[in-house]
Amino acid sequence: MSQAQIVIGLQWGDEGKGKIVDHMAQRQEYVCRFAGGHNAGHTIVVDGKKYALHLVPSGILNPNAKNIVGNGVVISPKDFIEELTQFDNLEGRLFVSDKAHLLLPYHAQIDKALEALKGKDAIGTTGKGIGPAYVDKIARVGHRVGELLDTNKLATKIVGYFEQNSVIFEALGINKPDFDELKKELDGYKQELLPFIANTTQMMWDILKEDKKVLLEGAQGTMLDIDHGTYPYVTSSTTISAGACSGLGLNPKDIGKVTGIAKAYCTRVGNGPFPSEDISEEGDIIRERGHEFGTTTGRPRRCGWFDAVAAAHAVRLNGVDQIALMKLDVLDGFKEVKVCVAYEVDGKQVDYVPYDLEDAKPVYKVFKGWDKCKGIRDFASLPKNTQDYIVALEEMVGAKMGVISTSPDRDDTIIR
Ligand code: GDP
Ligand code: IMO
Ligand code: MG
Repeated sequence: MSQAQIVIGLQWGDEGKGKIVDHMAQRQEYVCRFAGGHNAGHTIVVDGKKYALHLVPSGILNPNAKNIVGNGVVISPKDFIEELTQFDNLEGRLFVSDKAHLLLPYHAQIDKALEALKGKDAIGTTGKGIGPAYVDKIARVGHRVGELLDTNKLATKIVGYFEQNSVIFEALGINKPDFDELKKELDGYKQELLPFIANTTQMMWDILKEDKKVLLEGAQGTMLDIDHGTYPYVTSSTTISAGACSGLGLNPKDIGKVTGIAKAYCTRVGNGPFPSEDISEEGDIIRERGHEFGTTTGRPRRCGWFDAVAAAHAVRLNGVDQIALMKLDVLDGFKEVKVCVAYEVDGKQVDYVPYDLEDAKPVYKVFKGWDKCKGIRDFASLPKNTQDYIVALEEMVGAKMGVISTSPDRDDTIIR
């Protein structure tokens, strides 16, 4: 009986999970997604070619790995089908849970309409319909992938749902779908997805029993977790390692090594507190050098310094065994590099994540910068100041930085 390894984002998403999952996937037999939807954008660069994955697990570029999209994911069939067109021969290599919830076009319409109504209090969602799809799931009015098998019944239920909630849909300016058009659309989804629909819970149990090498791929990041993130500026799923159990049908004993992914600095896209944000020119330099623009929405990401308090919180929440420290090369050339080591809240210094981070001010420790670590592939060759920075971060967050990334490329990765 094997245990699955897991990769989790420790910050506000976009830490570089795609690169590390792809790197690790070269030695895996299965790669599985357990939460989120196509709000995720995981970038992989192999031999200079760039892939942006949203719903398809990042194991897809290893021809020997099979990929599972678990029940905890919300799936937009339209976007998923479009994403699949970049790959050949997926049958037998990709499996989608019959219990995953469908994210349908009206969910995105609701998402955008509600965000517009919130005005300046908007969350800054990706507008993909993630919140409304999870709301329907929790309210027990959602629809599962397995329902695609009977599209007549599914279309009838959806139209009925629009009729029951006509007051709300009319207020939001969302039209009731025409039954025939909806059924045709669902039939199209059924035809494309049928080869992939499976009882993935049973599959997970079987493959672990058969001692297969299994990697679980987190989406978003710990600070966007519905319970433990900066609520309400979060996503609508459990992004931490605990989410992998419910999102795939595993029990806690099924999970082994936990790798947390963190950038050597911090970014956040969308609204909400971000204590170590740097709105000066230095933040702009990080954005330009790090190409910090969203993979999913193209929005500029807010940039700032490594937040050791939030990272330590994430290490504890996820049970992190090792950290993969990403994008160290983006800090090349800075004279000084700052790290947030505590927050000042109501005039007091705290070294934990408080109830609300909104008014928390960062307390920084300043480190000496370095010239260049881009492309370096062994720890000993890193500049001394870079090595000192990494060792200091390890002490602050309480986990070993076992993987260090010095460029987007799969091979520019140090394993310690
Ligand atoms: P994910 O959502 O966590 O998979 O991360 P994204 O793909 O949204 O964003 C990470 C970005 O950083 C991508 O464009 C990656 O190609 C890039 N990247 C990953 N690791 C490194 C690195 O070590 N250095 C640099 N310069 N870029 C990296
Ligand atoms: P990956 O997997 C960064 C953010 C959105 C917004 C909030 C809620 O690529 O790291 P949602 O559309 O989920 O309701 O938006 O969450 N967000 C992400 N930020 N990376 C992501 O995914 C994200 N997925 C959602 O910007 O602030
Ligand atoms: Mg991303």
